[in-house]
Amino acid sequence: MINALRGMKDLIFDDARRYRYVTETAARIAENYGFSYIETPILEETRLFKRSVGESSDIVGKEMYQFTDKGGNDVCMRPEGTAGVVRAFLQAKLDRQQGQKYRFYYFGPMFRYERPQKGRLRQFHQFGVESFGEKSVEEDFTLIRMLADIFDALGIRYRVLVNSLGCDVCRPPYRESLVEHLEGIRDELCDDCRRRIESNPIRVLDCKNEHCQELLADAPRLTHALCDRCAADFSRLQELLTSAQIPYTVDPNLVRGLDYYSGTAFEFVSDEIGAQSAIAGGGRYDRLVEFLGGRPTPGIGFAIGIERIMELVQMPESERRGWYFGAMLPDALGPILDLAHAKRLAGERAVVEYHPKGLKAHLKGADKVGARYCAVLGEDELAAGTIWVKDLVEKEERTVPIDQL
Ligand code: HAM
Repeated sequence: MINALRGMKDLIFDDARRYRYVTETAARIAENYGFSYIETPILEETRLFKRSVGESSDIVGKEMYQFTDKGGNDVCMRPEGTAGVVRAFLQAKLDRQQGQKYRFYYFGPMFRYERPQKGRLRQFHQFGVESFGEKSVEEDFTLIRMLADIFDALGIRYRVLVNSLGCDVCRPPYRESLVEHLEGIRDELCDDCRRRIESNPIRVLDCKNEHCQELLADAPRLTHALCDRCAADFSRLQELLTSAQIPYTVDPNLVRGLDYYSGTAFEFVSDEIGAQSAIAGGGRYDRLVEFLGGRPTPGIGFAIGIERIMELVQMPESERRGWYFGAMLPDALGPILDLAHAKRLAGERAVVEYHPKGLKAHLKGADKVGARYCAVLGEDELAAGTIWVKDLVEKEERTVPIDQL
């Protein structure tokens, strides 16, 4: 037997229903916030991710599904959605429309060659949004509020963590002071952290190693080193969150695992799903468009990890819907095929059982497919031009002329 690859899962039955419910609910909310749907290819040039997500990130450094295609191109299955959307934004020359705002949402599979465990897959699904051209901190607040709305609509409890990662003005001097501090404790840090002192020292702050965290207790804090503009934005963001009654915590160690961020960063976490508790993450990336060759354009976005919230989603009761058609004799099959087709053309759901059988068996069949109406054509009805119907919700049954069904 051939099984799915390690870390890759089928979405079938209840999972498939949940996946659609999550994406439809989130898409509806994103549309209400003025976002429009975008779909970008799963395969992109490898250098897109190297330049945007960054070579020092785990995602690019260790986890890419990268290969050479038959044409000799170095390609990669997208590990996340932002890079492709920014590429599409540039390719459509939207960066040249200065002053315009563009807001997109997307969902679909992402690929990271990680060690699979609960909540961590190699193929997983995200719902994400990206907003271009709006630098106001009100936009940062609005994205966090949208995320809260989505989780509220899905019945999911969460905690919100926020941080500011600073900008080109305040980050370089902060980085220097952090490196100086890290050099002092270098020998005691874990191997990953030691490597990061050179490649991306700020990522040392979110090391999961407990000993490293103890050592970092008195490391300089970026939130204390923000420039006036970043500090003002960050405190305004907190004011807006407070007045919207979105409970949040400032987490100075929240640095996010992708290199493109600056300014506002945030994560939503759940305490109900174990170690992989981040259910969504995002932030500003005001330099990314420029970095990929476009005109300077501020950007901000987030992505939800759909598999991580799947079990938490409060699904509405699935309602009985549409028709089940059954025949009690072979001659009745032709007419029910046509009746079912007429229902479908009228926009209703209709399922046909092709094997003639007794009434009891048909009622069972209708129940199994979740139909509201069970319509059965027997010998007497066939002769009289009628059909027997039962409403499985109201528990009413009657025989009606076929043309009045
Ligand atoms: P990220 O934090 O790498 O951000 O991923 C977002 C979410 O995807 C995570 O919070 C988590 O729920 C889920 N996720 C990540 N890796 C896995 C995995 N291996 N298995 C299952 N779920 C996973 C981004 O991807 C950014 N592109 C978000 C963003 C959009 N920032 C700005 N715009």
